[in-house]
Amino acid sequence: ARTPVSVTVTGAAGQIGYALLFRIASGQLLGADTPVRLRLLEIPQAVKAAEGTAMELDDCAFPLLDGVDIFDDPTQAFAGANVALLVGARPRTKGMERGDLLEANGGIFKPQGEAINAGAADDIKVLVVGNPANTNALIAQQHAPDVPAERFTAMTRLDHNRALAQLAKKAGVSVSDIKKMTIWGNHSATQYPDLFHAEIAGKNAAETVNDQDWLENTFIPTVAKRGAAIIEARGASSAASAASAAVDHVHTWVNGTAEGDWTSMAVVSDGSYGVPEGLISSFPVTTKDGKWEIVQGLDIDGFSRGRIDASVNELAEERDAVRKLGLI
Ligand code: NAI
Repeated sequence: ARTPVSVTVTGAAGQIGYALLFRIASGQLLGADTPVRLRLLEIPQAVKAAEGTAMELDDCAFPLLDGVDIFDDPTQAFAGANVALLVGARPRTKGMERGDLLEANGGIFKPQGEAINAGAADDIKVLVVGNPANTNALIAQQHAPDVPAERFTAMTRLDHNRALAQLAKKAGVSVSDIKKMTIWGNHSATQYPDLFHAEIAGKNAAETVNDQDWLENTFIPTVAKRGAAIIEARGASSAASAASAAVDHVHTWVNGTAEGDWTSMAVVSDGSYGVPEGLISSFPVTTKDGKWEIVQGLDIDGFSRGRIDASVNELAEERDAVRKLGLI
């Protein structure tokens, strides 16, 4: 039998955690031949709830689940981790300013970055889901100087999947007919879902749809504001779809993108497409052998340029704000 892969999940007792852990334990994260050992990190008040989830994981009798350990200390939780899913974060509460939100999350992601630096496995791959995801990822990455920066990523796969679903509906096709979808920038309302490089059955998606009004005034805002629409309808934020996207993100990172396709991941910029070096911004990426690469050479027209710049400027402002707070 193969040695189990250690997967650390933070915020394990939360909504996304509850949807995510069962998918990981069933083998959907890494593949059906890879046993996993789960390491759950929670705050002390939520450890008991995490223990309840661990009881249910036992009760699923998943053949690939090697065991579950529960921690309230990041150093222990990340020791030996091969994959880390950073889901737990401090949500924005009423009256909270952006600076307060960034500061509260700095208090979570700085020690977690340090713990990853101190004890994670050499092949550690980190996905940050907890919001503000891109900037939380940047904070963690900056406190893990011994880990290659490219191992820290943030999740825009949910936005990517939402964009696939909206386009498939509009065009009357299956999501599997769509390739080369891209989310650019921040996982926030400024994100830019790009149809100018996407393809439907091999043909340019924007040209196929041929409806700039829909693209600008329906498609982009629907994708960007989908989280709020889910809260409005469900009375709770998207959890199962977020967990599904996290599984997709890691699965694609580990197993590779298909020939002729790419995915969206927020990764550390090397300056591609004018995105300042070091920002963790969403790009079109291909993956192979556990490594990602930003797709190069795409033509960016004026419309797309403006949208990308707006979202990237927001990321730069968040970076400057956490710098000012001494968090990086
Ligand atoms: P939740 O509030 O149900 O669960 C969060 C859990 O994190 C709680 O159990 C809490 O005790 C735990 N936690 C808080 N601080 C922690 C720490 N320092 N260490 C370990 N655990 C800690 O929230 P939910 O719905 O599960 O969402 C989690 C995060 O994911 C939120 O920040 C949410 O905004 C974000 N999110 C991101 C998406 C994306 O596309 N990137 C999509 C949907 C949600």
